Amino acid sequence: MKDAPAGSSRDTRKLAKLYSEVSHWQRDRGTCLIETAAPKDGEHVLDLGCGTGELTAELARRIGASGQLTAIDPDPQRLAQARAQFGASFPTIRFVQTKAEDLSMVSDGSIDLIYSNYTLHWVLDQNRLFSEIERVLRPGGRMVTEFLGAPIETLIELLLMMPEGAKALGENVYLDEVGWRALIAPHALAIEKLDWPETPLRYENLQALFDWLEATSHGAFDHRKLSAQDRAMLTRRFPAEIELACLGLRMVLRKTG
Ligand SMILES: C[S@@+](CC[C@H](N)C(=O)[O-])C[C@H]1O[C@@H](n2cnc3c(N)ncnc32)[C@H](O)[C@@H]1O
Repeated sequence: MKDAPAGSSRDTRKLAKLYSEVSHWQRDRGTCLIETAAPKDGEHVLDLGCGTGELTAELARRIGASGQLTAIDPDPQRLAQARAQFGASFPTIRFVQTKAEDLSMVSDGSIDLIYSNYTLHWVLDQNRLFSEIERVLRPGGRMVTEFLGAPIETLIELLLMMPEGAKALGENVYLDEVGWRALIAPHALAIEKLDWPETPLRYENLQALFDWLEATSHGAFDHRKLSAQDRAMLTRRFPAEIELACLGLRMVLRKTG
């Protein structure tokens, strides 16, 4: 039986819109990652976890009219927003609702570049993910990805203030470097680069942090559900601009053989 697409049970059109409005930090990181990925004219690119599609559109612009772009995300609301915003301007993009663990709509050896920005920590079946990556990349093809390398303490604390917070924390996977290398080793994928960039998260105030966390957690965090006591404590603790330390994980993989 096929798994239910991740996120679909909680997602709403409002959350997708909020994500597209407040996810500046992910978008800035993703824009830098596009430079690293260097998509070329005519390439077939796969965007894993395309969200509301702003970065997908930039990838599509880079590969031109002779390129092809397959953009996948399990969340129907985010995909609908991406399609509505960019589908008409970029007919080379095929939007597909699926998880990164199931790329059955993509032919073997057909992809030049897999691009994935701040998504892999959401992929629970990492073994299936790397089998699929190995299968769809052409020999010599590359994967360029950055995602959350480690949990962020303050965000855990906020999520645990929610009734379903502990459950939501189980939706993310974090491994250390040994764990990632062990996971990738059985596959025909050479690790060309693996580093841990420090990418501080900045919010102009507490409400901005609340909005971003609500959008990125698919509504698992909802500041309206905070107890009066927790809200007062947070307001005292974060009276002005907020900066949270955050560790990314950036990898470039190359299909061998
Ligand atoms: C933080 S957003 C990043 C979206 C986009 N790449 C960007 O940088 O703006 C993470 C995305 O991963 C998607 N996602 C969650 N689980 C996934 C999975 N198993 N496979 C692929 N995408 C997944 C979410 O629906 C969400 O759109």
